[in-house]
Amino acid sequence: MPIDTTHYWMPFTANRQFKARPRLMKAASGMYYTAEDDRQILDGTAGLWCVNAGHAHPRITDAISEQTHTLDFAPPFQMGHAKAFEAASALAHMAPAELNRVFFCNSGSEAVDTALKMVLAYHRLRGDGLRTKLIGRERGYHGVGFGGIAVGGIAGNRKHFGSALSSVDHLRHPLDISRNAFSHGLPLHGAELADEFEQRLVALHDPATVAALIIEPVQGSTGVIIPPKGYLEKLRAICDKYGILLIFDEVITGFGRLGTAFAADYFGVIPDLICCAKGLTNATVPMGAVIARQSIHDIFMEKSPENGIEFYHGYTYSGHPLACAAAIATMQVYRDEKLFDRAASMSAAFEQAAHSLKGLPHVKDIRNLGLVCGIELEPIPGKPTARAYEVFERCFWEKNLLIRTTGDIIALSPPLIITQEQIDTLFGTLADVLKSMK
Ligand SMILES: Cc1ncc(COP(=O)(O)O)c(C=O)c1O
Repeated sequence: MPIDTTHYWMPFTANRQFKARPRLMKAASGMYYTAEDDRQILDGTAGLWCVNAGHAHPRITDAISEQTHTLDFAPPFQMGHAKAFEAASALAHMAPAELNRVFFCNSGSEAVDTALKMVLAYHRLRGDGLRTKLIGRERGYHGVGFGGIAVGGIAGNRKHFGSALSSVDHLRHPLDISRNAFSHGLPLHGAELADEFEQRLVALHDPATVAALIIEPVQGSTGVIIPPKGYLEKLRAICDKYGILLIFDEVITGFGRLGTAFAADYFGVIPDLICCAKGLTNATVPMGAVIARQSIHDIFMEKSPENGIEFYHGYTYSGHPLACAAAIATMQVYRDEKLFDRAASMSAAFEQAAHSLKGLPHVKDIRNLGLVCGIELEPIPGKPTARAYEVFERCFWEKNLLIRTTGDIIALSPPLIITQEQIDTLFGTLADVLKSMK
């Protein structure tokens, strides 16, 4: 019997178009979804950049199922449970050594809003309350909370809500196809774009008023924008020079996407706070987190009244037992199965396969790092997004392949367990579809 699609108002979806021909999944295992019509669909996107260990990993699903029977919920305010502390320790040990205090929430959006509130409160507690300006980046995606859309740089996500956004500014994004098209790994040109942060934004706003810079080390949602060589290092140095905190939004890059635990490790650039979510629980139970430098955490402890709440922030489901059980099991799987090393070892093959699409019809640029790549297509004149959407539909319906598109860019970010054969299928299938495009 066909399902009734009337009542569900779908997120970030063209609801009417979707409901005319619903794309439905009913099961998943390893690298594959099972579609509602029983077809096996190769997952080229790890769900939504999040199922890094592959679908329905038994160690993770068992841990969640056991937890539901043991402790379903414990109040997170003024109460606790052991798994929340265990999950925080595991995450602190996975993060760069300097970042070791963990605040839990339920999503990437909440992690971003938590981090932004943390930096404002931090400066205020230090007696530097003039630092209220937040700098983001054009084409940045930091979720959908008011803080996240304020520092985010996606016009469509802001325009209906703009009146509520203030005290922010944006750095230019570093995508420069004219100089860097078809770069393998880090683009060579554009590190100087970081100078704009100091020369234009910090100078314009007065360094003493800037609280933090928030960026995705690799911009994911707006089409895989890889930082040019040396660019992140420059941003870190400018932040240090002016006492500005640096937040890395690693909601996509965290948990092995680049072949290291975090992008911070890959680049050797350590921020002051990391926002993460998605791969933290392998997407089984919603969870997000902010990992802060101990020195930031300690200011809250030192400057707040004794026996008073140090940070006026939290969620009913912060450190939810099911999420914590999922996170602990997920991080054990990442470690025991050496999935980050695996991602690193597959990245050369992934890069080679991605760049084999160069020269196919409409392919304007290909960019990659670790197990993520973006394939930018020339838009159909007057119909932006239509070409990539057609590729997406044809991959799903005719070729049993799940890809993701944003604008006219195809983004691929498979689970880290992908094999060489599956890499060949992924790009071979995409190549067939692109070759047949008018
Ligand atoms: C970099 C980044 N930050 C934040 C978010 C928001 O995460 P969520 O959808 O879990 O709120 C996303 C989601 O894709 C993201 O890519």
